[in-house]
Amino acid sequence: MSLLRMILMKKASCCISVILALVGVTAAIQLPSQTVFMNVPEFAVLGDNGTFRTSATPFNPQNLTPPFFQVWDLRFLDILGPKPRVRIIAERDDFEFAHEAPIWDPIQDQVFFASANIGPPLGNVNFNHNNDIFVIQLKDVKDIPGPQNITWTKVPITPDIQVVNGGTPMGHNLLFVTNGRANISPGVAIVNPRPPFNSTTLLDNFHGRQFNSLDDVRVHPKSGAIFFTDSSYGFIGGFRPPPLLPNQVYRFDPKTSEVHLVADGFQISNGITFSPDGNIAYVSDTGSCCSAIGFNSTQAATIYAFDVDPTTQRFLNRRVFLWSDSGIPDGFQTDSKGNLYASTADGVQVYDPTGVLLGKIFVGSNSANNVFAGKGRMVVMAETKLLLVEFEAEGSLVDLE
Ligand SMILES: *[C@@H]1O[C@H](CO)[C@@H](O)[C@H](O)[C@H]1NC(C)=O
Ligand SMILES: *[C@@H]1O[C@H](CO)[C@@H](O)[C@H](O)[C@H]1NC(C)=O
Ligand SMILES: *[C@@H]1O[C@H](CO)[C@@H](O)[C@H](O)[C@H]1NC(C)=O
Ligand SMILES: *[C@@H]1O[C@H](CO)[C@@H](O)[C@H](O)[C@H]1NC(C)=O
Repeated sequence: MSLLRMILMKKASCCISVILALVGVTAAIQLPSQTVFMNVPEFAVLGDNGTFRTSATPFNPQNLTPPFFQVWDLRFLDILGPKPRVRIIAERDDFEFAHEAPIWDPIQDQVFFASANIGPPLGNVNFNHNNDIFVIQLKDVKDIPGPQNITWTKVPITPDIQVVNGGTPMGHNLLFVTNGRANISPGVAIVNPRPPFNSTTLLDNFHGRQFNSLDDVRVHPKSGAIFFTDSSYGFIGGFRPPPLLPNQVYRFDPKTSEVHLVADGFQISNGITFSPDGNIAYVSDTGSCCSAIGFNSTQAATIYAFDVDPTTQRFLNRRVFLWSDSGIPDGFQTDSKGNLYASTADGVQVYDPTGVLLGKIFVGSNSANNVFAGKGRMVVMAETKLLLVEFEAEGSLVDLE
């Protein structure tokens, strides 16, 4: 790709032709619909009179109407394929119903997810209630262009678990981590995805001490151990007591119930995932989110990569993987080729395994998480919206059996 040099960019409403000089050979590439090309060399120098960004809000220099795809690197076209599509499939303007913990169930082609812990109405600061787990059926999505509003139903988990914030498949169960609420301890729980939706809590403390508010969770693809992050979001949100532990990352063995620390040194540890082979772990630090002034852009909005020790599975050799130009990198996942899809303040940002930005699924507002729904489909949680992406990529997570 270093051989490619952009010499011309033309913009039209649906398609864009990019003419590339390939060391002597000139080739025209027709970009698919809903796709805009970001001319990276053009952004490199904005000049003395340039319009610079002064915040971490969504970056939409062409002022297009979301949702659409931004191509930052031509390799993103392989991920998009010839006929990519991104559409709103459900929407509600007064309730952040689509926040976190998305899990795809291949058997019934349905997606489970959690609402924000503030509940309806939007902006409610009374945290005196639990959030909800909802489920949508992807067969309800119609093959029409433009937004649609399929229905979602509440999952009656029994016994209930308090403020689910992270989720992933584990065997034939849903695996959730919870923030906890008031003095009810955060925990790790499995939930039956079929009626009667019964739950079993696997862990609710570290050697007798309550966690702060567990944030996200993944199962290691080789060992089957459960890795989860702890955060201070429950306290920041006003529904948990002050943190008594550092925000850090733990490994829990569901066979023996043994739990130990694998990584520390975060302001607020948040999302977690593994490379498809399980050799690399990714953990985000979202410390910039929540100072006295709200978002403080000089603090962490960073995903770190680690080597997973083959013997102990502790996280070694911490290095910077990405820093988000728009808000915090909240939840994320890898595809079958090891590319990473991070939910941020402008939608889903896609990075190659070396941490180079390939492109964005531009939503224009916050996404806290996203999940692959089989080959060529992704569901994006965007708080008051759910979006369906159709492209060529495929997820790396182990499915529900
Ligand atoms: C910047 O704007 C000033 C005032 O309009 C103008 O004199 C100057 O030439 C501009 N500089 C550049 C590099 O365009
Ligand atoms: C979508 O449906 C929900 C009820 O299921 C409704 O509350 C909401 O207003 C609808 N959204 C739009 C944009 O029509
Ligand atoms: C749900 O209940 C069934 C029947 O008692 C049990 O076999 C299963 O392990 C339970 N699942 C969960 C996730 O608690
Ligand atoms: C933002 O964070 C920086 C440290 O990176 C700190 O010095 C500054 O006081 C913070 N600003 C506010 C208003 O909290």
